[in-house]
Amino acid sequence: MPEDSANWINPGIRGMAPVGRRRVDPELHRLQWNENATGFPAELKEEVLQRLSALDWARYPHGLRPWVLIERLAAYCGVQPEQVVVSDGSSDLIKMVMAAILPPGATVVMPNPTFLLYGLNAQMQQARVVDIPLRPEDDFALPAQQIIEASHAHKAQLVVICAPNNPTGTFYPTDVLADVVKHCHGLVLIDEAYAEFCDQDLTHLLANGRVVLLRTLSKVFAMAGVRRTSYWCGSCRRSERCWTTCTSSMRCSSPTWKTTPAWTTTFAFLSARPPRTIS
Ligand SMILES: Cc1ncc(COP(=O)(O)O)c(C=O)c1O
Repeated sequence: MPEDSANWINPGIRGMAPVGRRRVDPELHRLQWNENATGFPAELKEEVLQRLSALDWARYPHGLRPWVLIERLAAYCGVQPEQVVVSDGSSDLIKMVMAAILPPGATVVMPNPTFLLYGLNAQMQQARVVDIPLRPEDDFALPAQQIIEASHAHKAQLVVICAPNNPTGTFYPTDVLADVVKHCHGLVLIDEAYAEFCDQDLTHLLANGRVVLLRTLSKVFAMAGVRRTSYWCGSCRRSERCWTTCTSSMRCSSPTWKTTPAWTTTFAFLSARPPRTIS
């Protein structure tokens, strides 16, 4: 009997149910993917394509960190460039944060329901997820006290909050988020994928050394298909070396790395004008 190669798969992944991938009718509106319905500006796409074709594809990218893009993102967020790490979509960054900080058996506290990739990635890391239910009768408000208590009770390594939350669309007031950051146990990852749509600025929370803010260009800048589009702002400049060491080594194989200069241009154009939102 040949040995089953599946036995060698990381037990966290082996135990997971496959994610269903049904054929999607392209005519249907995929509301559940939260794409930017206004689309990407055609004239800018043309400019990006020209810059992409001018790149020398035979050469490795220069350096491991796209500093020009990082500097522009830092200025946009009002943080220092050393606090910013760029990646290929939040999905990639979520995986990186979890791989970087969760030893097997670690605990992650998060509201439920929330963006599904957090639960899946925690499972892949063989971490335990403590779900704190969001209740329709409370308008899905953030149960801050329960999150704080659970994080201490389980000595959580990580607390995850999507603000605003997906799929409930709930806006969490800044003082409630600040309370969680101040009192909970572990690192707090706040996913701000929809930050620009609610005009909430959480960068001051970075003053607490245990906060990571996750942002993306997929939503407000309509770049979900590009995938070189997400970035995080870490709190602690002292820990920058540690973060960048582990993230650079995990991600220098990224296939889209070479194209970063083109996305830098794109971001510069887009961030210079007011975001287009659906009216
Ligand atoms: C809360 C949240 N975070 C992250 C993402 C994924 O963003 P990205 O396109 O950067 O992977 C989504 C996508 O729907 C989301 O809802």
